[in-house]
Amino acid sequence: MHHFDFHEGSLHCEQVPLSQIAAEVGSPCYVYSAATLRRHYRVFAEPLAAVSHMICYSMKANSNAAILKLLLNMGSGLDIVSGGELYRALRVGADPAKIVFSGVGKTVPEIEQALDANILVFNVESEAELDRIQAVAAARDQVARVSIRVNPDIDPRTHPYIATGLYESKFGVDLDTARPLFGKAHAASHLELVGVDCHIGSQITELAPFLDALERIQQVVQELRAQGLPVRYLDLGGGLGIPYNNETPPHPDEYAREIVARSRAMDCTLVFEPGRVIVGNAGILLTQVQYIKSNYKKRFAIVDTGMHHLIRPALYQAWQQIQPVLPRTGEAEVVDVVGPICESGDFLALARELPPLQAGDLLAVMGAGAYGFSMASQYNSYPRPAEVLVDGDRYHVIRAREAYADLVRGEQLPDDLA
Ligand code: LLP
Repeated sequence: MHHFDFHEGSLHCEQVPLSQIAAEVGSPCYVYSAATLRRHYRVFAEPLAAVSHMICYSMKANSNAAILKLLLNMGSGLDIVSGGELYRALRVGADPAKIVFSGVGKTVPEIEQALDANILVFNVESEAELDRIQAVAAARDQVARVSIRVNPDIDPRTHPYIATGLYESKFGVDLDTARPLFGKAHAASHLELVGVDCHIGSQITELAPFLDALERIQQVVQELRAQGLPVRYLDLGGGLGIPYNNETPPHPDEYAREIVARSRAMDCTLVFEPGRVIVGNAGILLTQVQYIKSNYKKRFAIVDTGMHHLIRPALYQAWQQIQPVLPRTGEAEVVDVVGPICESGDFLALARELPPLQAGDLLAVMGAGAYGFSMASQYNSYPRPAEVLVDGDRYHVIRAREAYADLVRGEQLPDDLA
């Protein structure tokens, strides 16, 4: 469910015509719907009310300050993976007691920064990281709360680049290695073992992998408790998929109910790290057709954005719906929607059936709220697009379009360059 609909033939975000945003803010531009964000958060949270839980929105999906603030206002915590994300989180007033820190590569300064902030928990991904957190905490005579991220070896049946819970992946600690690590964490002088964590992948469109992972994690929790080790938090990560095309992922309500039903007796706080399911369908990328071009038998619509601003089609062969913002009549044509970047992999859609397009037409790339702007680059020296948040009949520019000066910020010429 989202709030991008046609009114009298023109695509709107809530009550604002996208053509108005394009005219006033320019193209390309990311547009997000506040009502959709609020709705997605509520739909995810409501069925969890029956159990002790925390929702820690995974901010890598979209880390714009206004989006974070909106979700924080609804009670969300945050899942972070870097010092930069922690910086963004604290800047918008996130409560450190609701921040979990995931990721395989935490550096010493990042660990210090998180200890300074007194975040809730480090999700530890290796023995070496556990040792490092213990050493950093000991040097400051502080206690770091830790969970161990276990890798349950479950196939989430998603794109290989976003599957994380298989034994060959770099993420988490395999079950055999994890068992002694829990004991080590519990015994360490400056660590407090508080839980178990897992995250098996992203854009998962079936319930079974989640429930299989839950079953394995619950076994671990039981074993730990039998040994007298504490487990206060059970973090199930994120990963719930969304419909981009004809996928039929479980509804968040069904996902939450099934997990709650199986975890009621666990006596711990359930932690969730949803990203895509909250922001994915709450955003679009607005773009304008620059040229229509035919090469041999192929037809291209060349637009003013591409893999530099939305890399998902190029990187994961992701299918994202594209629709004209204003009515276009005529017999559908098959086109590749491509960007200006000097790479053959620069496409937003291949062999897509669309109404006949002309230069100047506005298009909306749907489902671009998650891993859109947050993965955007300045490749080929294109400034990154503006971001706009629509709320009812009003809109706000929540990130200005970058200027050319932003492309070279920080670059310096050596004085003695020959
Ligand atoms: N927790 C952890 C530890 C994660 O690594 C991720 C995502 C999440 C939570 C949130 O997952 P979500 O609910 O959004 O599926 N760039 C890719 C997706 C990469 C996901 C990385 N980890 C894409 O555009 O499909």
